[in-house]
Amino acid sequence: MEKIYEVAILGVGARGGDTYGRLINTHAKDKFKIVALCDMRKERLQRFATEFGVDSSACFTDEEEFFKQKRADVLIIATQDQDHYAHAMKAFECGYDIMLEKPITDNREECENLLSAQKKYGKKALVCHVLRYAPAFLKAKELLDAGSIGRLVAVTMLEQVAYWHQAHSYVRGNWRNQNVTAPMILAKSCHDLDLLQYYAGAKCRSVSSVGDLAYFNSQNAPEGAANRCTECKYINDCPYSAKRIYVDRWLKVKNEDIWPYNILVEPPITKEKLEKAIKDGQYGRCVFACDNNVVDHQITQMTFENGVKATLTMTGFTANSGRKIIFHGTTGELELNEEVDSLFVKKYGAEQVKVDFNIDNHQGYGHGGGDYYLIKNLYDMIEGRASSVTSLDASIESHLMGISAEESRLNGGKLINVHKSL
Ligand SMILES: NC(=O)c1ccc[n+]([C@@H]2O[C@H](COP(=O)([O-])OP(=O)(O)OC[C@H]3O[C@@H](n4cnc5c(N)ncnc54)[C@H](O)[C@@H]3O)[C@@H](O)[C@H]2O)c1
Repeated sequence: MEKIYEVAILGVGARGGDTYGRLINTHAKDKFKIVALCDMRKERLQRFATEFGVDSSACFTDEEEFFKQKRADVLIIATQDQDHYAHAMKAFECGYDIMLEKPITDNREECENLLSAQKKYGKKALVCHVLRYAPAFLKAKELLDAGSIGRLVAVTMLEQVAYWHQAHSYVRGNWRNQNVTAPMILAKSCHDLDLLQYYAGAKCRSVSSVGDLAYFNSQNAPEGAANRCTECKYINDCPYSAKRIYVDRWLKVKNEDIWPYNILVEPPITKEKLEKAIKDGQYGRCVFACDNNVVDHQITQMTFENGVKATLTMTGFTANSGRKIIFHGTTGELELNEEVDSLFVKKYGAEQVKVDFNIDNHQGYGHGGGDYYLIKNLYDMIEGRASSVTSLDASIESHLMGISAEESRLNGGKLINVHKSL
């Protein structure tokens, strides 16, 4: 029988509780046992303690108390962006191996400090770049490495955030204001940057980036719009109306515990609870009257050390979500479309071929199966059977790209050398 490792979770929100905690509790009980939880939201903490069978003596609302001693073999850190660095440093000091949510940090010096702390305490770390574990994305890399489109010359990547997700997370929600969260290029696009350097097969040499907040501000409010959707004459017409995004869309799925509705209200979700949440809470604010300042579109171009070039367009102005990636090779194109789960090889002068990539039941577990396979990889990494492809040092590479892209954006698109200070 394999060893079962004890896990503690810091932050049992959408990622720590709903995703990783639940995945472990349902699909990896032969590998991990959740033994301690910490979350400042008491209701969530208690709900997950019951669901995961964690004793109340091992549940904490105060991180100071939680960090007083080591409570498990592995710590999953799924708190908010700006706390990841401090929590990871404390975890290393405490003696944990860690699974750390992205983004790691938006600061170059903190990247170095984390690497030094990891070395000092001799601990393992996996960063949650979930798409690196998703079958479609792995298949694309396999095809590139097998030379199916010749030599890779350039990559065009489009990240479609989707209009409602932009409004939910980046205008009304947790990632709306750069004073309390990471810049969009890290908060949303660090997965894309990570994928691009993985596919390019080389470190990124330079980036330049432009982008801003084009739409979600007071100048663009329709005439006579109210500050809250429930009081607004455009409640049934505006595409960003909280009623349309939360109540009307939920009525179509009526799932009692599903994101993003479970961010507004504790399950079981009901129409009445959602209506109350948009009447009184932060998610009912007009998208043109919020305290948001993060960009709603950003275009970044990159040159890698082996000469491969890439562009990444991140935009909130899309009907649906999902990445579309076109790999431009010397003898063909490869097209990955996350929106419709498809992968095509288009050799020049030949019929295009649709590629199968192991669509199995685990696809249901978010990020095209990436969430599920990430947990599996965590076990192999802790066991020392495999090194993580999203180790701390590998992940810091893409974070440096993001930090540089933001520096470029703030300097009018100036070309930035990614490795200037490391
Ligand atoms: N890997 C991915 O694809 C992916 C996807 C979405 C979000 N994320 C990242 O995961 C992180 C968590 O996002 P989420 O959507 O789960 O957010 P969330 O708000 O749903 O969950 C965060 C939880 O942490 C708790 N918390 C925060 N600070 C705490 C502290 N000091 N002590 C105790 N509890 C604390 C909050 O109460 C909350 O329950 C974010 O950094 C986000 O950027 C990653």
